[in-house]
Amino acid sequence: MTARRDFLQLGGLMAAGLTLLRMPRHAARADEPDDCAPPPAPGAPVPFKPDTDLGIRTRKNAAALPRAEADRLKSAYDELRKLSKKDPKDPRGWLQQAIVHCWYCGGGQNMTAGEEIHGSWWFFPWHRCYLYFHERILGKLVGDKKLTLPYLDWADANSRTLPSWYTDPNDDSNPLFDGNRQAKPGDKLPDQYVGSTVMKRVMGQPTSDLFMGTSAFLPRPAGGRLENGPHGAVHLWVGNPSTLDPTPDMSVLATAAQDPVFFAHHANIDRLWDVWLQDPTAHPPHMNPPDGRWLSHRWTFYDEEKKLTSISVQDVLDTETSLRYRYEGAPVMAAKKIELTAKPLSQKIDVPTEPSLVYVLHIEGIEVPPTKSAVVRVFANLPTATPETSIEDPHYIGYFTILAKTSKVREQHKSHTPTNVMLDVPADLGKMLRGKPEVEVTLVPVAGVSSRPQDVKLSFQRIRLTVTK
Ligand code: C2O
Repeated sequence: MTARRDFLQLGGLMAAGLTLLRMPRHAARADEPDDCAPPPAPGAPVPFKPDTDLGIRTRKNAAALPRAEADRLKSAYDELRKLSKKDPKDPRGWLQQAIVHCWYCGGGQNMTAGEEIHGSWWFFPWHRCYLYFHERILGKLVGDKKLTLPYLDWADANSRTLPSWYTDPNDDSNPLFDGNRQAKPGDKLPDQYVGSTVMKRVMGQPTSDLFMGTSAFLPRPAGGRLENGPHGAVHLWVGNPSTLDPTPDMSVLATAAQDPVFFAHHANIDRLWDVWLQDPTAHPPHMNPPDGRWLSHRWTFYDEEKKLTSISVQDVLDTETSLRYRYEGAPVMAAKKIELTAKPLSQKIDVPTEPSLVYVLHIEGIEVPPTKSAVVRVFANLPTATPETSIEDPHYIGYFTILAKTSKVREQHKSHTPTNVMLDVPADLGKMLRGKPEVEVTLVPVAGVSSRPQDVKLSFQRIRLTVTK
């Protein structure tokens, strides 16, 4: 970790020197700050609360951003830069915003530094938090609570150049321009970094360790395939497409967030996290790290009112309910919860077309209140099933239980962490499903041996069937 940081800092210094020698066409702006420590907090951080008055905002593809929205984004960054000039210590200003990223890549001074959030499983959730607060600050500055960051979908062969908003005009009069950026209008990101061959491999990583990075608590944590592959390549390319040498701002972590392109790049990274999680062809399904230390981890950010806010990984997993945004074109089912009461509930789902020996039924995103337990029997193509239906019935798949977490509600047990259940489909039943387009799955809550429970409070996000070979 330390060695890597030294390398990046050294790279940054060398590149800064080179940039000066080369005399860029546009004067370089502020560079790597001497001290990345955030402004001192006036008091203890307040816990994050979802802004439920805010409607769901849509982050749009930068390649097709309506002109009016691009203009508003420009005004917002203009205000951000002005704020920084007016009060360099305002934590919401442009330079302080960039400094947040510097601090969290271990770039402090005098032996103090923020936690390193690159190169491990912190990468995705930390950047999601960062973008959220940055976006709310931008919105506040232009009086538009609905403002969103666009995303740069560089995997799409038709959007491999920087959108014109960032480069037109390609000088300091454009708040989305960055004087240190070497990528010019019309420069094209190469296939080797972000083309379909690369992206197929990256998005097909089967586990969170491989896709998202491993636990930061390991002696040698590793970043995931997206972070260490296309994410880094786009940073390097924006900084300097001709050499891929580290050039501030984008290709050096400590200065990367001084280029507004950073935030559109990371909106895409953030979007790809969801795309990976929701990949319907994945078997077993892609999942976040099932680890309480990941879920309960917290960071602090200044919000749009300058309030220091403490936010956890758990707080940002459901972007619609909690952070009030979604991505254009994202499947809608993701954040919708289906409620299961004491009554059986049936749902039709697709049967995968690939031939298989064993089907696996997944019930995902199950949540129950912490003081409740549940026992649920699952049937295929038997919508009339009740608690009295025999478990010898050929349509019976199996059952699952959810154990209450506590008998008393305590602070730390506010909610049950969503869980996912897998049930293998018995072979004979599997044979009946083969070749069929869909199957109707019925969930039957039970109490005791064969009675209907008094009161069941369970929700889940989806049911799906996968195959194992
Ligand atoms: Cu925090 Cu793209 O790096």
